[in-house]
Amino acid sequence: MDTKVGIDKLSVYLPHFYLEMDELAKARGAEVEKYTIGIGQNKMAVPTIQEDIIALGANAASLILDDEDKTTIDQVIFATESSFDFSKAASTYIHELLEIQPFAKSFEVKEACYAATAALQMACDYVRLRPDRKVLVISADESRYGLGTAGEPTQGAGAIAMLISANPQIFAIDMDSISITDNQFDFWRPSYSEFAMVEGSFSTELYQDIFKRVMSQLEETDPEKLSQIKAMTFHLPFTKMGRKALSSYESQEKSVFTKEDKTELLKQWNGHFENSARLNREVGNIYTGSLFLSFLSLLLFSEDIQSGDKVGLFSYGSGAVAELLTGTIQEHYLTALKKESVIQQFNQREAITIDQYEQFYNELLPADDKKHIIADSTKEEGFYLSEVDAHRRYYKYRN
Ligand code: CAA
Repeated sequence: MDTKVGIDKLSVYLPHFYLEMDELAKARGAEVEKYTIGIGQNKMAVPTIQEDIIALGANAASLILDDEDKTTIDQVIFATESSFDFSKAASTYIHELLEIQPFAKSFEVKEACYAATAALQMACDYVRLRPDRKVLVISADESRYGLGTAGEPTQGAGAIAMLISANPQIFAIDMDSISITDNQFDFWRPSYSEFAMVEGSFSTELYQDIFKRVMSQLEETDPEKLSQIKAMTFHLPFTKMGRKALSSYESQEKSVFTKEDKTELLKQWNGHFENSARLNREVGNIYTGSLFLSFLSLLLFSEDIQSGDKVGLFSYGSGAVAELLTGTIQEHYLTALKKESVIQQFNQREAITIDQYEQFYNELLPADDKKHIIADSTKEEGFYLSEVDAHRRYYKYRN
């Protein structure tokens, strides 16, 4: 199988508003350093009800698709753990809003924050068998733990869109990866609950334990590949989590590597970490898209990264499923990623006060069967939720 397959285009789309962590710290009586250093977050993206997962996802995808893509996409896969419908897939809305060719299939996948990786791997396998076709993968989430909870400073919202093709411009993904499943209750959300249930400290321990188990498996099965990984990126529910994972592997004594070789490898990974967490620090946890936001951050800001380098992506979904995938950065990755427009989008966001945040947070969509026009919350160009009528959501595009 010689054809390279992987991420041809990648974009991020964020809610227009954010809350500074010092605003939140002040309101909750916490020391700001707990949030900015202990947890490692500066800002938290705050969605309005017009910016639901469909609007966020459609806006992310519209940043990367051209007319030719729309005729060659065979599948639209939506990864989310913020679904509002147990039956109709979020991707059916996206398929219409983005005018993808009618004979494409559209469906939704779920396994907490791991889901986008499952979608990406399915997409790659499909394209490996049909190299002239493409798959659109979208991940969009709104992370909600509840006002005043321990999880509150680790909230966020946003979407990532990835176009998967043969001969990709950004990242060619290796066919072999290491996956693991371990049935646990670290973070979950029963269908009747608006908020996630979370065992905070257990969840961070389990994450590190699973990372170490995956790394041991890769050490055993393909140590050479492991030693070639120049930077390791992580699912980042909060940026400190990645640092914790790195140091847990570092202190794991059993290894096929000599102490010197492992120290050298970890030195490289630690050296890249801050750049790979830069965007995540400004957004918070976007669940399914969080790993790919970190990957984007590494590619945009690490000056010591170049085409031909091997990068590892550690995907973790509570519950728990994880996968370490690897790939190689492609020649035209920087042109394809449009760094200036990503930075512009981050800079154009607006800060809100704690009162505005709580007001947005408490605003829920009506659950009756009447017609409701949703009041405009921003003037931003893009797709937004405009109306709910008889439990059906309708979207418009604002110029
Ligand atoms: N200055 C600097 N650091 C400070 C500080 C200060 N003034 N005060 C406290 N800290 C440090 C603490 O020492 C601690 O650091 P370490 O973890 O390195 O020891 C850190 O700040 C956090 O302090 P606490 O552990 O006391 O914080 P907490 O009990 O309020 O909860 C949390 C933190 C567990 C992350 C909580 O926010 C949470 O439950 N978040 C959601 C769950 C989560 O994200 N889990 C991650 C793994 S699961 C996953 O990845 C799936 C997913 O997306 C959810």
